[in-house]
Amino acid sequence: MFEFPKKYITNLISVAVKEFSKDKVLDVDAGSVPIEIDFKNNRAFGDCSSNVAFSLSKAFRMSSTEIAGYLKALIESQTPIFLERVEIAGGGFLNFYFTTDYFSKALFALTKMSAKDFKTAKKEKIIIEYSSPNVAKPMHVGHLRNTILGDALANLYDFLGYKVIRWNHIGDWGTQFGSLICAYKKWGDKIKVEKNPIQELLELYVRFHKEAEQNPELEKESQSEFKKMEEGDKENLKLLNWFLKESTKEFNRLYRLLDIKKFDKEIGESFYSPMIPKIIKEMESDKMIKQSEGAWIVPLDAFNLPPAMIQKSDGATIYMTREIASLKYRLAKYNPFKILYVVGNEQALHFQQFFAIARLMGIPSEKLEHVKYELIVGADGKKLSTREGKIIPAQEIIDEAILTAQKIIDQKRKDVPQEKREKIAKDIAINSLKYFFLKDGRMTKIIFNLESMLSFNGNSAPYLNYTYARFSKILKKAGRIKKADVFLLENKDLELIKKILEFENVFEQSKNDSSLHHICEYLFSLANQASSFYESSPILNDPDSGRKNARLMLIKELNKVLEIGFEILGIKTLEEI
Ligand code: ARG
Repeated sequence: MFEFPKKYITNLISVAVKEFSKDKVLDVDAGSVPIEIDFKNNRAFGDCSSNVAFSLSKAFRMSSTEIAGYLKALIESQTPIFLERVEIAGGGFLNFYFTTDYFSKALFALTKMSAKDFKTAKKEKIIIEYSSPNVAKPMHVGHLRNTILGDALANLYDFLGYKVIRWNHIGDWGTQFGSLICAYKKWGDKIKVEKNPIQELLELYVRFHKEAEQNPELEKESQSEFKKMEEGDKENLKLLNWFLKESTKEFNRLYRLLDIKKFDKEIGESFYSPMIPKIIKEMESDKMIKQSEGAWIVPLDAFNLPPAMIQKSDGATIYMTREIASLKYRLAKYNPFKILYVVGNEQALHFQQFFAIARLMGIPSEKLEHVKYELIVGADGKKLSTREGKIIPAQEIIDEAILTAQKIIDQKRKDVPQEKREKIAKDIAINSLKYFFLKDGRMTKIIFNLESMLSFNGNSAPYLNYTYARFSKILKKAGRIKKADVFLLENKDLELIKKILEFENVFEQSKNDSSLHHICEYLFSLANQASSFYESSPILNDPDSGRKNARLMLIKELNKVLEIGFEILGIKTLEEI
């Protein structure tokens, strides 16, 4: 029976490892040995390799070369029909060489698969929290990286068959809302806020601080508005709710522009406020907290962390308190196997403390993960900002990307009408932003650069979109392709099939690191290989009709994999560009 490389080789190795440990009568649980299969770029050195002999070396007190020798013999004794040979290299690596026939079978098997065959029906529930902007404040470039990363991670889990709950934890609580309410009551205009909520509310907030400098009384008013709200004041809560509603509308407009999937849950922090007194009482009776200068803190010495405050001396609760309440709510209501928090690295300490508190509450640490990411910086290496040092709103960045893409497309595609050019430019701009923010590991600082982001011949979305569109055009011209079990004789065909098969590796890698760069790297190298393949082998006018058909099959599968990759990254597949 045909099996894709990873499974095929893994099975051969596990049978061999089991036999080997039986022979050696050693109490080693062969099933627990991690088997990693690496795909190799050059067929001359094998198609894939495994370092399993190294992992066994310690338990068996034998050299890895020796173990590899045994394993090789035990693999050969299974007479694997799709292997030409197995070799030992570099002190114990097992290198596998597939038969040519294996690759044609693989290609044929691929033609029969669709995206949903890749799903493993795990049905495990996972909450992925991302974006989480703050009410009355514009989203900035950090929120862009966050939202793009979170959406793509959610797509990935979705693709792998998990039940994903996309969660938006909106910031709508804190003393700053006392100031905002105070300002609105004094100078606010309902119609203006409805028209342009975030801008208008931001201006009110800024004005409040300016005036408070002259008139310190205002600070007191702000504090009392917030206190009133914490105690359940109807009028203030109503205002806050309205700010949340209006701001959310604007966030949603940005999400639509970015073409990210809908959130399943959008809950403002204020929602948890009523649950807090009970939680604090419980923590008190569990002796988790103690009073310090009138405030309540959780000592975290056991974790080598500074204590975390959960209630200020004036009785006000803080970010951390709502964090705990939200966690309790999420666990009780959804019982997920895991929660991912996509939040910037600046909040690393907050999450260390939060997870430590969760531990004290008996929540296993593997349930929670802080998916942190680094800053987007300017050419000077500093946080991206305007000349006056102000943060740049996400909207402005998107607008600028669209404008630049428009110029490029106007140049490149004079043949298509204006309206269509605009559509292409918008799609290209959004695709480019997403890919640019995903292609590096999440702990890499990204130097913002529109030019390389929108370049048509680098590691960028336009290049990938272009590669896809180019093959798509060929497939359209070719018309129907016969699905035949073919023999492809040339090495470059085999190498490309092998590259396509490699995709099964990258999804797991990206999942394990909560980072999409593995998928990006793979798509980029796949596109590169496919382009040079195409340049050296004209397809449509190949006189050998069997080979022509086989190569059409091949590029069709190539495009299928590109499409899957794009979908996960949140990138639109474009038929033409
Ligand atoms: N609203 C916060 C901010 O923009 C991020 C919230 C992150 N999520 C969380 N569960 N703490 O800074």
